[in-house]
Amino acid sequence: MPASYAAPDPGAKFPVAEFTRIGFLKNLVRSPLIEVGDFSYYDDPQGPEHFEERCVLYHYDFIGDRLVIGRFCALATGVQFIMNGANHALDGFSTFPFGIFPGSWREGFDSAAYASGYRGDTIVGNDVWIGMHATILPGVTIGDGAIVAAKSVITKDVPAYAVVAGNPASVVKMRFPAEVTACLRAIAWWDWPVDKITRNIAAITGADLDALKGAK
Ligand SMILES: CC(C)(COP(=O)(O)OP(=O)(O)OC[C@H]1O[C@@H](n2cnc3c(N)ncnc32)[C@H](O)[C@@H]1OP(=O)(O)O)[C@@H](O)C(=O)NCCC(=O)NCCS
Repeated sequence: MPASYAAPDPGAKFPVAEFTRIGFLKNLVRSPLIEVGDFSYYDDPQGPEHFEERCVLYHYDFIGDRLVIGRFCALATGVQFIMNGANHALDGFSTFPFGIFPGSWREGFDSAAYASGYRGDTIVGNDVWIGMHATILPGVTIGDGAIVAAKSVITKDVPAYAVVAGNPASVVKMRFPAEVTACLRAIAWWDWPVDKITRNIAAITGADLDALKGAK
């Protein structure tokens, strides 16, 4: 295969030399609580290397919730993943977090009271496109192939291959008929060896399901 047809190096931090606002996230995140698949990128003119501190908020080790992002996701500038550490306990008469302050308020601090409101890990599937300044609340799962419109606020799970928009976001359309969505998820081209993906980009981007089914 000629060099010009080689796939980008999934181990690169900045795979487009002349466009360093794009970064392959897997190689930029440091937290063991954030997992990102190959080729998923974050685009930010102020530097995609700041993803962790600017886009993954209230993410504390002592809580241990994970952000898991699949392969071939495109994350636009200003996406905000709000993690479980953001949620104050709701069951008492006050939501004021007395226990985070030093001194006598911290004595008797019951972290279990906080844990009762945890909503679990945040999961982004494969081939998900998240538009500018979308906000994703804790514990949400975004299905494979979904599109999150700009400035959406995602409060619940997003079905695979749905387009969601608004605050709170709702499904505005499904990208493909249900049988096509099922086929695409079964094919799961994002898990193919990179060479096979490279050979079949025209079928993937051209929505040629027959070609994808017979892909070699
Ligand atoms: C979602 C998006 C891709 C459009 O997808 P589409 O399939 O062409 O959808 P349409 O434009 O037909 O919009 C469908 C409906 O969603 C609404 N909608 C689209 N984007 C919306 C948004 N960001 N917020 C609220 N509603 C939105 C439309 O008004 C329309 O509503 P209607 O059915 O009541 O008329 C586009 O609106 C978007 O948000 N793109 C993200 C761009 C971006 O952030 N890029 C960053 C660089 S990668």
